[in-house]
Amino acid sequence: MVTIIASTNRPGSSTLKLAKYYQKRLAQKGLEANLLSLTELPDNLIKTDLYGKRSAEFEKIQQQITATEKFLFVIPEYNGSFPGVLKVFIDACSFPQSFYEKKVALVGLSSGKYGNIRGIDHFTGVCHYVHLNVMPLKIHISNINKEFDEKGDLIPEDTLRFTDEQMDKFIKF
Ligand SMILES: Cc1cc2nc3c(=O)[nH]c(=O)nc-3n(C[C@H](O)[C@H](O)[C@H](O)COP(=O)(O)O)c2cc1C
Repeated sequence: MVTIIASTNRPGSSTLKLAKYYQKRLAQKGLEANLLSLTELPDNLIKTDLYGKRSAEFEKIQQQITATEKFLFVIPEYNGSFPGVLKVFIDACSFPQSFYEKKVALVGLSSGKYGNIRGIDHFTGVCHYVHLNVMPLKIHISNINKEFDEKGDLIPEDTLRFTDEQMDKFIKF
């Protein structure tokens, strides 16, 4: 199973829009992927699912994570790094069956100039710690507010080329 993770719980995020674009484009290339948005996390996650606790609501998400062999994280830049809710999610997931010796591709985005280069580096460190093998080609999309048309498709030619190349490599990874 392949799962795309939209790595913020911010309502109306560009991250979810980009994750949906990746899901649609991967399907056009013949790869069906599930989509998990961190907006689906239990509201009370920090009380109900950390340090050995497990809620029925999170258990469904845990089962999806356990069954996934290949992940694609779409990660926005928040204060020069990845969102705190993403780290809470990783901390809540069972170790080692969630990520150990599995595969991941990473996509960074921001409204600013840098497309979450630092946050993707920080998250790469977390991936290495949990033995999640990171695909070398990472994508960074800056000025995200200018990237989509009204249908939610990416517009700039270079962004289309780089994201397509990443998806083709991800399918083979
Ligand atoms: C808490 C927070 C911190 C942010 N910090 C940064 C930042 O450090 N650099 C940047 O370019 N954009 C920053 N942004 C703007 C996001 O990059 C922007 O909202 C973009 O659309 C991706 O986030 P989204 O998926 O929540 O929409 C921040 C947004 C939030 C909500």
